[in-house]
Formats: sequence, C-alpha cells, structure tokens
Amino acid sequence: MDGRVASSGQTRHGASEVLRVEALTVQYGALVALRDVSWSVHTDEILGIIGPNGAGKSSCFAAVTNAVTHLGRTFLGGNEVSTLRTFELADRGLRRTFQQNSFFGELTVLQNAVSAIFRDFSTGLATSLFAPWREATTRRAAETAAEQLLDFFGIARQYHDQLPGDIPYGVQRLLSVALAYGTGAKVLLLDEPAAGLSGGDMKQLAEVLIGLRKRNLALVVIEHHMDLIMSIADRIVMIDQGAMLATGTPAEIQRDARVREAYLGRDE
Ligand SMILES: Nc1ncnc2c1ncn2[C@@H]1O[C@H](COP(=O)(O)OP(=O)(O)O)[C@@H](O)[C@H]1O
Ligand SMILES: [Mg+2]
Repeated sequence: MDGRVASSGQTRHGASEVLRVEALTVQYGALVALRDVSWSVHTDEILGIIGPNGAGKSSCFAAVTNAVTHLGRTFLGGNEVSTLRTFELADRGLRRTFQQNSFFGELTVLQNAVSAIFRDFSTGLATSLFAPWREATTRRAAETAAEQLLDFFGIARQYHDQLPGDIPYGVQRLLSVALAYGTGAKVLLLDEPAAGLSGGDMKQLAEVLIGLRKRNLALVVIEHHMDLIMSIADRIVMIDQGAMLATGTPAEIQRDARVREAYLGRDE
C-alpha cells in the first residue's frame, strides 16, 4: 500500500465524490504542519482521519475550510472552491466542528438550534430533513424545526431550555454536531467529536454518525478513539508528522506496520 496515494477516485456503490482535496500544505512560520495531503470523500461515506497529537489533522480541516493560509486545491461537488471563504463554503454545505465546543453560552440549547436554523434559511440551504419547514419564516416554525433537529440528534427535551454549559458533556458534543449540521450539510468535518466521551455517550455518538451517513451526507471524522473510528469509518487516512502515511479500509490500516509503529512507542 502506497501511503502517498493521491485522490483515489474510487466509488462505492455509485456514490458520488462530494469533496476532494489535493496536495494540501500548511506552514506556520518555519513549521510545515501539513505536507501534500490528498483525499476525497463520497456521499454516504465516513472517512476517518487518524494520527498522533500534532500530526496536522486539525490543520488539515483549517486548510479545507480556508481558515488558514495554505497551498493545494479543494473541490466541492466537482467544482473548485479553493479560494472561497469559510462562510461561503459553509453556505454551500461544507461545515466543520472544532475540538472544543463552541455555543452561544447565554442562549438556551433550543435557542442555539433556532439560530442554526435561521442561519441556514438565510442561505437557502435546506434539505428533505426539514422540507415541511422550507418556507417557514416565523419563529414558531423555526422553533419546531429546531426541536426536530435536536430530537434527530438524540438531545432530550429536558435539555432544550437549559444553557449549553449546564447540560451533560456528552450531550454538548452531540449539540456541536447538530448545530454544524443545521438544516442539512453536504459534508461535515468533525474534529474529535468523541473527545472526553466514554461508554454510552460514545455509543450514542456513533449511532448519530451512522444515521447521518444514511442521509446522503459525507462525513470526515478526526478521531483518537481507535475502537470508535475503526468501527464506523469506511476508509481511513493516517497522517503522521504532517504527511499521509497510509490510507485504506480500517482492516488494512490496522494491519499496516507503519501505522502500528507511529502509534506504538509514543506517548499518546
Ligand atoms: N496556529 C498555529 N500556529 C503555529 N503552530 C501551529 C498552529 N496550529 C497548529 N500548530 C502546530 O502545527 C502542528 C500540527 O497541529 P495540529 O494541526 O493541531 O495537529 P493535530 O490536530 O493532529 O493534533 C503542531 O506542531 C502544532 O503545534
Ligand atoms: Mg487537532
């Protein structure tokens, strides 16, 4: 297996390529954090990105969303979007979450969801998930859509009127993904969604991600929890010291000697 495979072009069951990145390179001063990284993701697919701390995984998302100066090219739905700004990419359905939760801390969980709904109505991005509310302009309709969004992500009604900081941490992580998704994304980039989770919370997150995959969504998931990512990802990209070390199915990655070497013998 050649670790430096360019965009694979492979298709799964006729699924279409949604996002392709080519030769992404990120440099912070003298430090090359990411070098020539290329991958693609299709609808109904979860692409996992793994690698040790400091490998360049988050920098990769920053480059994809044009949040950092970088080299390389990005294609969304076959169109080059390399020079589009972060919010323009979000308007086109390319959304990301961050390693740390970020909410409107003074707004309730439901109000946070309402603001995500309004954000999407204002950009005209809406999907079948909320088709009945596509024309909605009233706050009540937006609240109903927001409740449905939270329900879909398994965020119980008892939390809707609480502040995000007051709800359990596991629910906060689900809320982060829900807000990024809004009324529908084409590609979700999730940066360590299971950070700090264990047991039941992780299982619930896995179920939500698998549910999203069934909704014509492409997911790219950076994750440290190997059990989780190996069980949900269709393909994995391994980044080490800024470079793509290996790519393949979870089974191929688990067998790869270079992957084992990069993880073993290091304090992780
Ligand atoms: N804004 C920044 N300025 C300077 N160096 C950075 C910045 N962000 C990340 N780095 C460095 O770039 C490297 C890759 O970081 P990062 O992309 O966050 O890795 P990962 O997400 O895989 O842990 C690390 O050495 C990190 O210290
Ligand atoms: Mg990171």
